[in-house]
Amino acid sequence: MTDSRLAIVVLAAGQGTRMKSSTPKLLHKLAGLPILSHVLATSHALDAAHVVTVVRYERDQVAALVAEDLPESLIVDQDEVPGTGRAVELAVAALPADFDGDVLVVSGDVPLLNSATLASFVAAHRERDVSATVLSSFPEDSTGYGRIVRSESGGFDRIVEQKDASVEERQIAETNAGVYAFRFAELREQLAHVTTENVQGEKYLTDVIGLLRGAGSDVRAVPVADAWLVAGINDRAQLSETARQLNGFIVNGWQLAGVTVQDPATTWIDLKAQLAPDVTILPGTQILGATVIETGAVVGPDTTLQDCEVGENAVVKRTDATLAVIGAGASVGPFSFLRPGTVLGADGKIGAFVETKNANIGAGSKVPHLSYVGDANVGEQSNIGAGTIFANYDGVNKHRSEIGSHVRTGSHNVFVAPIRIGDGAYTGAGTIVRKDVPAGALSLSVAPQRNMDGWVETNRPGTDAAVAAAKSGD
Ligand code: UD1
Ligand code: CA
Repeated sequence: MTDSRLAIVVLAAGQGTRMKSSTPKLLHKLAGLPILSHVLATSHALDAAHVVTVVRYERDQVAALVAEDLPESLIVDQDEVPGTGRAVELAVAALPADFDGDVLVVSGDVPLLNSATLASFVAAHRERDVSATVLSSFPEDSTGYGRIVRSESGGFDRIVEQKDASVEERQIAETNAGVYAFRFAELREQLAHVTTENVQGEKYLTDVIGLLRGAGSDVRAVPVADAWLVAGINDRAQLSETARQLNGFIVNGWQLAGVTVQDPATTWIDLKAQLAPDVTILPGTQILGATVIETGAVVGPDTTLQDCEVGENAVVKRTDATLAVIGAGASVGPFSFLRPGTVLGADGKIGAFVETKNANIGAGSKVPHLSYVGDANVGEQSNIGAGTIFANYDGVNKHRSEIGSHVRTGSHNVFVAPIRIGDGAYTGAGTIVRKDVPAGALSLSVAPQRNMDGWVETNRPGTDAAVAAAKSGD
C-alpha cells in the first residue's frame, strides 16, 4: 500500500570525479545493472507517495535510466550550486508545499541497501518521533565518509565531512551512511540556512543535522546492522569490492536454491540471471545479463554466457556465448565462440574451435571441429565435417546457406553462400560448394588426384626426402 506520508529523494546529480571516467559514476555496472538501478529498485519497493530524483551530471543519460526504471519519479535538475544539500533543497521544493510527512534521502551511489533495511529505518525514525534520523555505520575503513560527532553524553550533535574534520574527528569510527529521514517542514526550513562555507565549497546536506540541533530539535543516528549494506561507491576500487560483495550474496542465494557452484570466488552471476535447481556451475564462469539455465545443465569451467538460454542437461564447457540458445541435451565446447543469433537444437553439438553467428543448427545436428558457421540454417541430424567454412560474405553483402536434414558434408568444405544442400545429400572432402546440391546427391568439386611417380628423385635429388624414398620398399 502506498505510504502517503513518505517522500523519497534519490541523489543522482554528482559527477563521480573519483571514478575518473567519461561514463557517469552511477551508470557503471554492478551485477549487470547500473549502480543507480539498484537504488531505484529499492526506492520503488517502498511505494512512497512521492519520489524525486535529482540529476545534473550527464543528466540526459541518467534521466533516461530513471524514466525507465522508476517512471513514478519526478526528475529535478540541480543547478550550478554544488553539494548534496543543494540537491535536496531543489528536490524538496518540487514536493507539494503542504506535504505532511517524512522525507527519506538515499544516495544513488549506495547500492546494496535493501528495502527491508530502509523500511525499518523509516519506522525507527517515526517511532522515536524526532526531527531527523541518520543511518550510521562502523566500516572497517572509514576514509572518505562523514563522521558522526557525538557530545559527551553520547547524543548526536553534527556530521563532519572527512575533508573538514580535525585529526581527532577523523579517529571517529561511526560514519554517515548517506541515508537520512527528515520531517519535511523542518528539513525545508533548515536547508535554507545551509551555506557553502567549507573546504569543498559545497552545500552539505549533512549540515542540516547541526542546524537542527542548534535549533533545539532532536536528531538520532541509528547504526545499520551490517556495514556492507551501506558501502558507498566513489572509486573503482570500491566498485569492485562492492561487486564482489553483491556477487557473494547472489551466488549464495543460488546455492541455497539448489544450484551447485563449485567455486564461488571465480563465479560471477548477474542479478537478472535465472538458474534452475540442479544446475552445476564450474570454476571461472560468468553468467551475465538475463541468461537462463535449465535444470541439469553443466556450465563451465571458464565460460562466459551473456543473455543466453541453456536447455535442460546441456553441457557448455570453456565457451564464450552471447545471445545464443542452446537446446536441451546439447553439447558446446571446449573452445567454442557462439555469437548472437546462434540457435542449437536439442542434442546438437558445437565442438572445439567452432565459431557460429546467426545460425540455426537443428536438433541432433553436429558441427564438431574447427569450423565457422555464419548466416546458416542446418536441418536435423546433419553432420558438418571438420574444418568447414560457411563463406557468407562476398565482400559487399552477406548471404545465407541452407543445409537440409541428414546431410553429411566432408572435411574442409567451403559453402559459398547463397547455396542450398538438399536433405540426405553428401559432399566429399575438400569440396567447394558454389552451386546448390540436390537432395540425395554426392557433390565433389576437387580435381581427380594425380600421382607423378619418381618426381622427388628427378626434381629434388640428394635431399633427405629422396634418400628416404629410395630406401622405402614402396
Ligand atoms: C556523502 C556524505 C558523507 C557520507 C557519504 C556516504 C555529504 C556532504 N557527505 O559523501 O557524509 O559519509 O556520502 O556515502 O553529503 N550528489 C548530488 N549532487 C551533488 C553532489 C552529490 O546529487 O551536488 C549525489 C551523488 O550523485 C551521490 C550522492 O549525492 O549519489 C553522494 O555524493 P558524494 O559526492 O558521493 O558524497 P560523499 O563524498 O560520498
Ligand atoms: Ca559517495
